[in-house]
Amino acid sequence: MLPQLWVASALCAVVLSAPTYSPGAAERPADMKVLSDYFHMLGTKVQAGRAMAEAPICDLSKAVLPVATATPLPAVSAGLTLKHVAIGRGTQNYSCTSTNATAAPVSLGAIATLYNATCVASTYPDLLQILPGVALEFNLTTPTQQTLTPSNLDISGHHYFSNTTTPSFNLSTTAMDLGFALCQKNNTVPAPAGSVVGQDGVGFGAVPWLKLTTRTGATGNLQEIYRVNTAGGNPPATCVGMPATFEIQYAAEYWFFQS
Ligand SMILES: *[C@@H]1O[C@H](CO)[C@@H](O)[C@H](O)[C@H]1NC(C)=O
Ligand SMILES: *[C@@H]1O[C@H](CO)[C@@H](O)[C@H](O)[C@H]1NC(C)=O
Ligand SMILES: *[C@@H]1O[C@H](CO)[C@@H](O)[C@H](O)[C@H]1NC(C)=O
Ligand SMILES: *[C@@H]1O[C@H](CO)[C@@H](O)[C@H](O)[C@H]1NC(C)=O
Ligand SMILES: *[C@@H]1O[C@H](CO)[C@@H](O)[C@H](O)[C@H]1NC(C)=O
Ligand SMILES: *[C@@H]1O[C@H](CO)[C@@H](O)[C@H](O)[C@H]1NC(C)=O
Ligand SMILES: *[C@@H]1O[C@H](CO)[C@@H](O)[C@H](O)[C@H]1NC(C)=O
Repeated sequence: MLPQLWVASALCAVVLSAPTYSPGAAERPADMKVLSDYFHMLGTKVQAGRAMAEAPICDLSKAVLPVATATPLPAVSAGLTLKHVAIGRGTQNYSCTSTNATAAPVSLGAIATLYNATCVASTYPDLLQILPGVALEFNLTTPTQQTLTPSNLDISGHHYFSNTTTPSFNLSTTAMDLGFALCQKNNTVPAPAGSVVGQDGVGFGAVPWLKLTTRTGATGNLQEIYRVNTAGGNPPATCVGMPATFEIQYAAEYWFFQS
């Protein structure tokens, strides 16, 4: 195949499609910054791809879990291997039940749709890194939306909370079943400085990076799950002016490790 053709097909079939804008999205200046970075990088990949002799291989063993430089999360436990990388796009939900205006919102958990980014992780890690920030600019139309706007990454599962201390991941779709896991928090570190704080560049910050471990009964040999390169999701510091429950849009990379 001609290099141009495999680049086009690799970018279209595996990584990203032509953008599809949601109405109004392009009118917001901060969006334009994050989107122009994205399309600049995409353009660079296409240029670089034209110079390559062979199509990139989506080799998961080449994907490297991002590390927060200031305060890293504990490393992946020995003997585990990477099984899947997903972009999660959804909301963090909070409650403000107290009438005490200085009280902080309480987390009710998150609900997100997961999109298969394993090939981007192994082939274009720099593009993967900015995808949560790009994806944050486009709200899901439904929790079952098939592809992640503005990419063409396909749905690979769902993330939700079984109770407030049990993040859960269902990696079963009509295409494939990679497992199901109820998890618990193992460690958390602040999102690095410079993370995307919210939609349109406005918000209360990016949710922390996390290491989760699976609870007994997980399937698909799922053992450890990392949430990294977070964008948005943090609540305001206090409940002042907030309703009893509310949601904050967020996106993140989720890295799944198996035994
Ligand atoms: C309001 O909440 C803050 C922070 O949680 C706490 O320090 C303060 O004592 C609370 N005030 C009252 C009246 O409950
Ligand atoms: C979070 O908000 C969404 C949308 O309102 C809702 O469907 C979901 O049940 C909420 N989840 C939690 C844990 O409150
Ligand atoms: C993710 O995409 C890659 C490349 O297209 C594919 O090989 C893999 O089976 C997909 N995984 C899931 C869970 O859909
Ligand atoms: C996304 O949904 C939130 C409500 O959770 C809304 O405030 C925001 O304007 C929407 N953003 C876009 C880009 O549609
Ligand atoms: C939440 O769910 C986990 C896993 O099912 C369970 O072990 C835990 O006791 C539950 N916690 C509460 C407060 O219900
Ligand atoms: C996971 O999701 C699939 C597809 O939506 C569903 O059929 C299955 O029951 C779910 N599994 C669990 C354990 O919730
Ligand atoms: C975190 O996970 C490691 C490895 O599984 C375990 O040794 C450690 O006890 C866990 N820590 C917490 C706080 O869960």
